[in-house]
Amino acid sequence: MSGVFIAGSGMYVPSNIVTNDDMSKIVETSDEWISQRTGIRERRFSQGESNYFMGSVAARQAMDAAEVTGKEIDMIIATTCTPDYFYPNLACIVQGEIGAGNAFCWDLNAACTGFIYALDVAQHYLAMGKKNVLIVSSEVMSKQLDFTDRSTCVLFGDGAGAVVIKASDGMYASYLKSDGGNAKSLVSRALKTQGMFATDKDNPKYNKYEENSGHFIKMDGKDVYRFAVKAMTEAIGGACKNAEIDVSQLDLIIPHQANLRIIEAAAKRGGVSMDKIYANVSKYGNMSSACIPICLSELQEAGRLKRGDKLGLVGFGAGLTYGAAVLEW
Ligand code: UT7
Repeated sequence: MSGVFIAGSGMYVPSNIVTNDDMSKIVETSDEWISQRTGIRERRFSQGESNYFMGSVAARQAMDAAEVTGKEIDMIIATTCTPDYFYPNLACIVQGEIGAGNAFCWDLNAACTGFIYALDVAQHYLAMGKKNVLIVSSEVMSKQLDFTDRSTCVLFGDGAGAVVIKASDGMYASYLKSDGGNAKSLVSRALKTQGMFATDKDNPKYNKYEENSGHFIKMDGKDVYRFAVKAMTEAIGGACKNAEIDVSQLDLIIPHQANLRIIEAAAKRGGVSMDKIYANVSKYGNMSSACIPICLSELQEAGRLKRGDKLGLVGFGAGLTYGAAVLEW
């Protein structure tokens, strides 16, 4: 039993819809620029919903769909790069909210690739005998947006997705990679060293990454774009090779939802028809690690997945991180 069975999925997005026209009242941009360059038409921004609140709603939905109670969950992995607290971790807070007293709980940060990394870690625990693992991917990206920087603030949105997974005897394979040499391309800074003890706090020897953006997202969009197209093609090809199938045998590919142009370019490069790709970036923008489980939840809710369908999940993000998993629904 080394496959993974997604027994249930759930999602939460804030009700506050912010259109491209709304964004054009905040920064110098237009619906035409955003939709042509990214495919994004609107996104959801939290009106105060915390990360754990959104994650807990998605988790409860996933548990209901899987018909699993809180007490039956053995492990919770939360993926987030926008937590409410440094500690307690998001997974522990969700544990308290959903009454999963028998679980051990921890957070995993691989930015937008977080859900795929978490799925792979969970698969290993399931193969070793755990019964029910909850993955909660929740992101309040709006906290990290500089609403004076039009090149980043129009791209992101807030949301949470969750899945309950169990072991199965179906197909599963993954391909996970990181490229820390290019970490500078996409950065959001945490706390700085306190000035009172620093003798030479501007010394680049101590920090060669982003120093001056506060906690806002700083991104070299072109670098990330080029990386993303190559990384997604490599990762899905690698995961299929490890599963000993051809990419053409996948019924559906669910990519990280950063930009429709990136998805189309990667599909073209990999020789995959867009009919086999699910995209909802137009409605939500980039919700980092929450994108893929939200896609799964939408697809499940719409009855678009049949048991036995071969799915490819593929993502990329800050780190830089990237990876793919192929599995049977
Ligand atoms: O999870 C990973 C997250 N990151 C990503 O996925 C980002 C990957 N990168 C991208 O998606 C694209 O690089 C962007 C969408 C960010 C940018 O698209 P681009 O085609 O690479 O545009 P650009 O950066 O070359 O900018 C072209 C022009 C510039 O003006 P000038 O210098 O040509 O006069 C920008 O200042 O577009 C301008 N621009 C904008 N104009 C209107 C940048 N942002 C905006 C905006 N509205 N929001």
